[in-house]
Amino acid sequence: MERIVIEGGFPLKGTITIGGAKNSAVALIPASLLADDVCTLKNVPNITDRDALFDIVKWLNCDINQNGSTIKIDPSKLKNVLISEELSVKLRASYYFMGVLLGKYKHVEIYFPGGCNIGSRPIDIHLNGFKALGAKVTKRGHKYILDADELVGNTINLKFASVGATINIMFAAVYAKGTTIIKNAAKEVEIINVMDYLNNMGAKIKGAGTDTIIIEGVEKLHGAEIEVIPDRIEAGTYILIGALLGNNLKISGIIPEHNRALLNKLTEMGVSYQLGTDYIIMNKCDSFKPVDVRTEVYPGFPTDLNQPMSVLMTQADGKCTMEETIWEKRVGHYPYLIKLGANITLEDNKATIIGKTKLIGTEINATDLRAGAALILAGLIASGKTYIYDIDYILRGYENIINKLSNVGAKIKIEKI
Ligand code: EPZ
Repeated sequence: MERIVIEGGFPLKGTITIGGAKNSAVALIPASLLADDVCTLKNVPNITDRDALFDIVKWLNCDINQNGSTIKIDPSKLKNVLISEELSVKLRASYYFMGVLLGKYKHVEIYFPGGCNIGSRPIDIHLNGFKALGAKVTKRGHKYILDADELVGNTINLKFASVGATINIMFAAVYAKGTTIIKNAAKEVEIINVMDYLNNMGAKIKGAGTDTIIIEGVEKLHGAEIEVIPDRIEAGTYILIGALLGNNLKISGIIPEHNRALLNKLTEMGVSYQLGTDYIIMNKCDSFKPVDVRTEVYPGFPTDLNQPMSVLMTQADGKCTMEETIWEKRVGHYPYLIKLGANITLEDNKATIIGKTKLIGTEINATDLRAGAALILAGLIASGKTYIYDIDYILRGYENIINKLSNVGAKIKIEKI
């Protein structure tokens, strides 16, 4: 077993380069299987979710050639077999193989996707979208079997602007007969990345990034290339670290517009920063005005930055509130922040955080990916040593986080126990 050990309080100086977006890459990798020949993905992040998806791609008899962050996937020898439970439960994004294999072969068998413990995580919106296109959905225990004689375009109105369902329905619709219109589509920027990739293959999709996406079915999709956009959640996490410990900490390789909601909140708290075209320079702020945050779908304040932001709130001068509206259980980090010394009360999905509180290092556990990131942030500002267990969650979504932080002066390491 391993744990992360952090000695807090050290200023962070130098440059952190942001990697490709996890929540793009986990869709772009399965999307490659929609094409008939070799596809190239650039700027793929080095995270364990990537490896878990590679295992499924290989299980389906597709070759993968990796050269650093450039990945070539050859789907020409794909065998559409049942995807094993052991492989598909490793991450929620395994559900993208449903839309891809249904869309291309009109048949898919897969076990219910996995993912972090932040809520019930149903996939009814995905399944209703597939049914609207003509698929029959059978559930046997944990296994889903989806079949269709043919897939016919339809107008699909999502009951919630689900990121995964929007992307999955795009996958299932690219080869459907006629036109599919997705209404109340999610507008996250990762969906534009996926649309661009599919259009590079020869798909005919318009409107990603808006609440209405139009997909005209095509007969063929050839190999193509795409670059994964920068990870706005990784960037946001380091921006928050910079507001607490930065000493000219440069976070480079970002698209500032993708972090607009966070930057607006930081400005409200009195945090100043220097913004370039593809970088931001952060300096430690001595006092933070309290704010209220309510997570929303893009372009609102991202739910995936809820937990790291709540750590900054423990250092504000007064009462902050953090209301989570996307996931019903994104609260696993609060007991551990309280154990470090934070003053937090939780009512339903709304936390009241009273700052400024001194955090004192101790033993804590990551309960999900973004909770783990929050605990690292807390350990970096706590006095003394903080020990974080269950660190696999963190390594799923933060590329080389130990090196990226230690290279700018953090006293952080992974040790075997
Ligand atoms: C994506 O999850 C991200 N994951 C999540 O990031 C992110 O928190 C979420 O979008 C919201 O931005 C990936 O992209 C792999 P949703 P997704 O479908 O697609 C309910 C991270 O930390 N819902 O937009 O699963 C659901 O229960 C992860 O990187 C249904 O009810 O999110 C939740 O309350 C965590 N039925 C809400 O919608 C469905 O069929 C948001 O879900 C699907 C979703």
